[in-house]
Amino acid sequence: MITIKEPKELQQELKRRRFEAAKQGHELTVGLVPTMGFLHEGHASLLREARSSDVVVLSIFVNPIQFGPNEDLDRYPRDAARDLALAEKEKVDIVFMPEVEHMYPQPTKTKIRVEELTSRLCGASRPGHFDGVTTVVAKLFHIVNPDFAYFGMKDAQQVAVLSQMVRDLNMDVQLVPCPIVRESDGLALSSRNVYLTGEQRAQALILSASLKEAYDLVTEHKVTTAGELKRRLTERIQSKPLAEIDYVDVLTFPELEPLDEQVRIDDYQGDLIAALAVKFGNTRLIDNMLFEKKDVALHV
Ligand code: PAJ
Repeated sequence: MITIKEPKELQQELKRRRFEAAKQGHELTVGLVPTMGFLHEGHASLLREARSSDVVVLSIFVNPIQFGPNEDLDRYPRDAARDLALAEKEKVDIVFMPEVEHMYPQPTKTKIRVEELTSRLCGASRPGHFDGVTTVVAKLFHIVNPDFAYFGMKDAQQVAVLSQMVRDLNMDVQLVPCPIVRESDGLALSSRNVYLTGEQRAQALILSASLKEAYDLVTEHKVTTAGELKRRLTERIQSKPLAEIDYVDVLTFPELEPLDEQVRIDDYQGDLIAALAVKFGNTRLIDNMLFEKKDVALHV
């Protein structure tokens, strides 16, 4: 495993590897897993998926432009030594760990912005966040030129926004959405879980529990409309005194179009997503559940 800090150096290294492979008559495939580090089993699951490419590139970069002025950029957890050990264990080939000045030599004047999808859910409560995500991911795609890039459905809106960017800009990369990895008690893994006190963590289990309940209620046809689903989730989360709801929403996926309250879930032809963001103290957690048409229909 090698570690690289400079974008140019990574571009040259990959060019060299592709050239060497081509000389042997082999077309090298490259898989990219973008992260902000403080790696956990959720990130590891993406790295395992990426192993089907010839070269696995892991990027670790706490991207300042996707954090708002009052967000946790300064206290975002970091542990480079532990991350490198995990990367080694997961057989990563190249770790790209740039400094802020490598990624954003001043002045930078270009941003990538996906319209509409970024105004909903986390985009509404974190203005500019997704512009930061699309800009850094587009830069990573240009630096690595990956055949496949792996993203977790934990951040389902991120997957939807990045898919739109790839389509709109004809980027030659295949996005691979990967399932949410959870603790055995249901809490979705997140680098931010370390901020939670014991009591907050215990109450935060309501996120995954209420989504799971909602899934069962929908597939058993006990909840039939988008509005009912939203109300049910909201009530369950409000039952925990430490939970402060940022949003609870039910939207189409991946378009992220709002649904009328009265829309019957069975009548809607595509997939839906129930998505939540809830604060426990200063820690904002997100979780979601995808209602794929095939699953809902199975139980009719
Ligand atoms: P980060 O929060 O570090 O997450 C990196 C990747 O790991 C994302 O694709 C995220 O969805 C995935 N991930 C996190 N927790 C997961 C879980 N419990 N199960 C499955 N996948 C999980 O997302 C970002 O970084 C940044 O926005 C980034 C894309 C790197 C751009 O800066």
